[in-house]
Amino acid sequence: MKCILSVDNLSKKFGRKTAISGVTFSVKEGEVFGILGPNGAGKSTTLSIITGLVRPDEGKVEIFGRKFPGEFIKAMENVGVLVENPGFYNHFSAVENMKLFCRLKKASFSEIKPILKNVGLLPQCRRKVGGFSQGMRKRLGLAAAILGHPRLLVLDEPTSNLDPRGTQDILQMVRTLSKKNKTTVVISSNLLHDIEAVSDRVLLIDRGEVLFCRSIPELLQAGENTYFINVDAPDKAFAYLNNLSGIKHLKKLGESSLSVVLSGMLPENLNKTLVAQGIGVKELRPVRRTLQELFLQLEGLHELRNHALPSE
Ligand SMILES: Nc1ncnc2c1ncn2[C@@H]1O[C@H](COP(=O)(O)OP(=O)(O)OP(=O)(O)O)[C@@H](O)[C@H]1O
Ligand SMILES: [Mg+2]
Repeated sequence: MKCILSVDNLSKKFGRKTAISGVTFSVKEGEVFGILGPNGAGKSTTLSIITGLVRPDEGKVEIFGRKFPGEFIKAMENVGVLVENPGFYNHFSAVENMKLFCRLKKASFSEIKPILKNVGLLPQCRRKVGGFSQGMRKRLGLAAAILGHPRLLVLDEPTSNLDPRGTQDILQMVRTLSKKNKTTVVISSNLLHDIEAVSDRVLLIDRGEVLFCRSIPELLQAGENTYFINVDAPDKAFAYLNNLSGIKHLKKLGESSLSVVLSGMLPENLNKTLVAQGIGVKELRPVRRTLQELFLQLEGLHELRNHALPSE
């Protein structure tokens, strides 16, 4: 697959504060690429550099094979951008603002109505944007970003300030754009759920450093190999597994369940060996990390990174 966006060793300081350091990743055509990290991690700085709003101190960006800053205008022709706090003409209506964006992007006015409908703004489209809520401004920002059918869409926290319904609508739009139009999307959030719902791969960033760049299941299972099992003879299972090699950690969970951390044993073999002991296995499934756990474990990931940087 073609590489649409490549980011190589980006670093940026604001005064003495390092916002990002050595950020490297690449995004393939048609991929939805999530950037996940807590507040202040460096998501917006990274996306602002990619979209030419901030100059990096070091590093290179290439979009559609075109280099920054030399070929910036050409590179941005097919890019739609939603920044963290999109700006509009407040004394103009949503439609009037969209017309201005159409002129800038050389898009047809006929795109405006269906797009405003898609982002759920059609009923308010004649109202002045100055009276819009944060969520409505976000929807209008997204509408402007997708005008002109961009091949690459860069969305900085498109779901922040949106209610659950708005979040669903936006994520559904991202999915549709990716599946139907084959639009490549780079989307940031500090909510794992949002990133998980749409992304093929995720970049985890914290304190300006990339900690991880892989698929969501790999992110949530990184480090430990934990399984939940529900059996018909929990005490027998506990006693048996407690003495078995290939089990790193074992814990009872309630009446009939155990959590098992495997080390050198495959989950299918765990199932087989329990059944061979006459223990009925009702459920066996991997336990994924929650986002809260993941963010709490960021220190550990920084440590890991210092020893061996996980590859893409
Ligand atoms: N214009 C600026 N001037 C000074 N410091 C800045 C500026 N922009 C970002 N920073 C700093 O750089 C670091 C990264 O900020 P950034 O906005 O990229 O984080 P973020 O991951 O987008 O966070 P959030 O989830 O809160 O949006 C933070 O410590 C922030 O304070
Ligand atoms: Mg941000």
